Amino acid sequence: MKKKTILSRKANILAERLQKTKDDMIDGFAGLVESRNRESGAHVYNIKYDTQVILDEYSRGREGEFTPEIKRLIVKASALHDIGKIAVPEGILNKPKSAGRFTPEEFTEMKKHTTAGVKILNTNFRPLVKDDPFFYKFCMEICEGHHERWDGKGYPRGLVGTQIPFCAQVVSIVDVYDALVSWRCYKDPIPHEKAVEMINNNECGAFNPELLDVFNRVAGKLQEHYIVLEKAQADGGLEFDEFGNAIMK
Ligand SMILES: [Fe+2]
Ligand SMILES: [Fe+2]
Repeated sequence: MKKKTILSRKANILAERLQKTKDDMIDGFAGLVESRNRESGAHVYNIKYDTQVILDEYSRGREGEFTPEIKRLIVKASALHDIGKIAVPEGILNKPKSAGRFTPEEFTEMKKHTTAGVKILNTNFRPLVKDDPFFYKFCMEICEGHHERWDGKGYPRGLVGTQIPFCAQVVSIVDVYDALVSWRCYKDPIPHEKAVEMINNNECGAFNPELLDVFNRVAGKLQEHYIVLEKAQADGGLEFDEFGNAIMK
């Protein structure tokens, strides 16, 4: 009996370690792809943080539907939203601001990163995403749907309103906010207040009004995260490894 208990405890420890390794690999691959963009490794870190904050606020009173485990899986899947960018040609992915906006052909190529991501997850990443059906579902939905917009003007499928999976709606608003307030090869950072204003004015596409409400309620908390992060980086207290994983010093 005692031997059995020890063995099952050891099996649990091993399973936990295996899970942790898989989670690290997911963040690592996601960071590696993002690093092609010459963005700071903070993008994956920010997306996960912001997604968690939005989910925590949205799920108040909906704890039955949004259990901590469901939220954890959505946050974990959010890291992979742009994994399909690995398939986008370098010249398009890193087109500098000075070279002007995307041509229609370039934009068509760029848009393919959503469906390319789904393909990659179903082939190369299959062993990493397939073992939990919820995680797999969230990965697929976020990867394909994070550029869809509430009014149907998004891509790749032009889904409208609740046709867009909820987890993809969350990551889309978070992805836009992070892109606005951060440096990108095509733009300088925009101040938080301006970013919030642009999101509310649908300048980056339309979002679920209920989710927009949630975003506005937590916007201050999101801003705080970026201030702390920036300060930690400036003080040398926070670094990102080559895979985009945050290392606290
Ligand atoms: Fe994307
Ligand atoms: Fe992104």
